[in-house]
Amino acid sequence: MQPRVTTSTLIKMKQEGQKITALTAYDYPFAGMLDQAGIEMILVGDSLGMVVQGKENTLPVTMDEMIYHTAMVSRACDFSMVVGDMPFMSYQGSLDTAIENGGRFLKEAGASAVKLEGGAAVCPVISALAKAGIPVQAHIGLTPQSVHQMGGFKVQRDEERLLKDARDVQAAGAFSVVLEGIPSPISAKITKELQIPTIGIGAGAECDGQILVLHDMLGINNRFLPKFVKKYADLAGVAKKGLEQYIKEVKGGEFPSKEYEYK
Ligand code: KIV
Repeated sequence: MQPRVTTSTLIKMKQEGQKITALTAYDYPFAGMLDQAGIEMILVGDSLGMVVQGKENTLPVTMDEMIYHTAMVSRACDFSMVVGDMPFMSYQGSLDTAIENGGRFLKEAGASAVKLEGGAAVCPVISALAKAGIPVQAHIGLTPQSVHQMGGFKVQRDEERLLKDARDVQAAGAFSVVLEGIPSPISAKITKELQIPTIGIGAGAECDGQILVLHDMLGINNRFLPKFVKKYADLAGVAKKGLEQYIKEVKGGEFPSKEYEYK
């Protein structure tokens, strides 16, 4: 069995020019598939609010929900590093509350790091968590928890601000940074400048690694997909076929046939 991926593994991968693979997962069976496939980092994203709970955005997701899902994912993983996403308003208040909430991901849910959204403005939180022994992945660019402030899910193009955010989160102690919805030339500059690995989503090929929302890339939900999502499978289509066949066979009396009966 390969040793579990850690923050040091990811930093070493950047130094050696090896690309990092990351995906989201929210439950035991899918996390197990990702772990066995060799995905290095699994993010239990607050995107679960949209792709699992069917909500319009990620804002209503609670700490307890995140802990519940992260614990399921952690139980399935021997290889992948599990990162828990800190939900809206779990770290924006006092530093004490942020540390308490960040700590829950490690103590109760088996994660080995947390992710939080924001650049320069959240650096005091990143520092406080890192000092408390909680590894932090930052997330800059299009930050979905700020959807109302950004006026929608919009590509972020302010190069100066993005570069400053990236430098600041690294200086504050983040071990990695997610770059979301950023034009490729800007992500390339950030990736070249930082020592910590950049994980891109809608941020081009130059990032040190890539992440996608699992339910989008496997075609589990038939929701609108942004331009940067490549659909690698059509699981909704496969499920629909199976379900239609089941309905047909039950209604037609074909299922259960003799082989599925107890004698
Ligand atoms: O919540 C999430 O899934 C995320 C990823 C899209 C990076 O933040």
